Amino acid sequence: MDYSNESILVTGAAGFIGSHVCCELLGRGAKVVGVDNFDPYYSRELKDHNLQMVRDAGGDFAFAELDICSTGSLERLMSEHGVTGVVHLAAKAGVRPSIADPVGYAKINVMGTQSVLSAATGAGCKRVLAASSSSVYGNNEKIPFAETDFIEHPISPYAATKRSCELIADTHHYLTGLPIAMLRFFTVFGPGQRPDLAIRIFLGKISKGETIKMFGDGSMSRDFTYIDDIVSGVMAAYERIDSHGYRIWNLGSDHPMELRELISTVERVVGREAVVNQLPMQPGDVDRTWADLSRSKDELGYRACTSIADGIAQQWVWMQEHADALGCR
Ligand SMILES: NC(=O)c1ccc[n+]([C@@H]2O[C@H](COP(=O)([O-])OP(=O)(O)OC[C@H]3O[C@@H](n4cnc5c(N)ncnc54)[C@H](O)[C@@H]3O)[C@@H](O)[C@H]2O)c1
Repeated sequence: MDYSNESILVTGAAGFIGSHVCCELLGRGAKVVGVDNFDPYYSRELKDHNLQMVRDAGGDFAFAELDICSTGSLERLMSEHGVTGVVHLAAKAGVRPSIADPVGYAKINVMGTQSVLSAATGAGCKRVLAASSSSVYGNNEKIPFAETDFIEHPISPYAATKRSCELIADTHHYLTGLPIAMLRFFTVFGPGQRPDLAIRIFLGKISKGETIKMFGDGSMSRDFTYIDDIVSGVMAAYERIDSHGYRIWNLGSDHPMELRELISTVERVVGREAVVNQLPMQPGDVDRTWADLSRSKDELGYRACTSIADGIAQQWVWMQEHADALGCR
């Protein structure tokens, strides 16, 4: 694809995945319009730091501080910038906090996604990608999780909003013909990872000799996926969605790791033993995730290239280099 003809709106541009996607698009020559409202889920300083990385990437980047629920403003922004496609990553993220704030999650994730789709159609966009999540698989026993699996029992409000977004997107495609891809990301990590996620917390605390919380007996497992692999999957989906209409793709690593092994890996990377406080499993947390990548390999040529050990080592280097900005000293 010739990205120099593309003007791409990225929602959640100041977030972890959004900022990496912006950098990649700019590197490929696209014009990028970032949107974010600096949701207070984590600090504005960290999001400004992410945006600075995007600006440092060079290229044609514009940014608007905007709530995705403001459909009219979004549509005007898209029209002004001649937006051809949207990568919709803005959301209230995080499984556990969604239990305390189901209304807030439903509003931003579900209404916000409909708002982005309506604005994209109104502005004449040609394609939309949106973030779904492995959490839609709930506690399904069949592993690995495939896009065709029965998934009608999400176990957290967050997961339910993500499944709702998939249904809204399917209907929107049916009614308007707009090509839409829903990408089920499996626990993403690497430089810039959200500060509420396990690897980032473990690296920070274990390196300082502080106690970490381990929920459950350590057998809970996740298909951790390195950010560069996610970004390459996003690009492949952007280039191919118009020949699929509406499509769901898993973007994972197909290498699940148990929590206790994750802790050992972080110990090896930082060179220090963890002090672990074992606590009961948290409501809303699924027992395991594991991506079946058959469809995304066949249709997107997707491949997860970075091992978890290498990825954690790279995240650790990044955390040390950015320690002042991250308030880690
Ligand atoms: N990180 C993961 O492991 C993971 C896994 C599965 C799915 N996802 C999904 O991927 C997407 C990106 O996740 P992330 O980890 O980068 O999260 P993030 O919190 O770092 O980024 C999301 C961004 O969206 C912004 N935002 C929230 N509400 C908004 C609103 N109303 N208007 C405009 N902007 C708003 C936030 O300020 C934030 O910068 C999310 O949709 C998330 O649900 C992430």
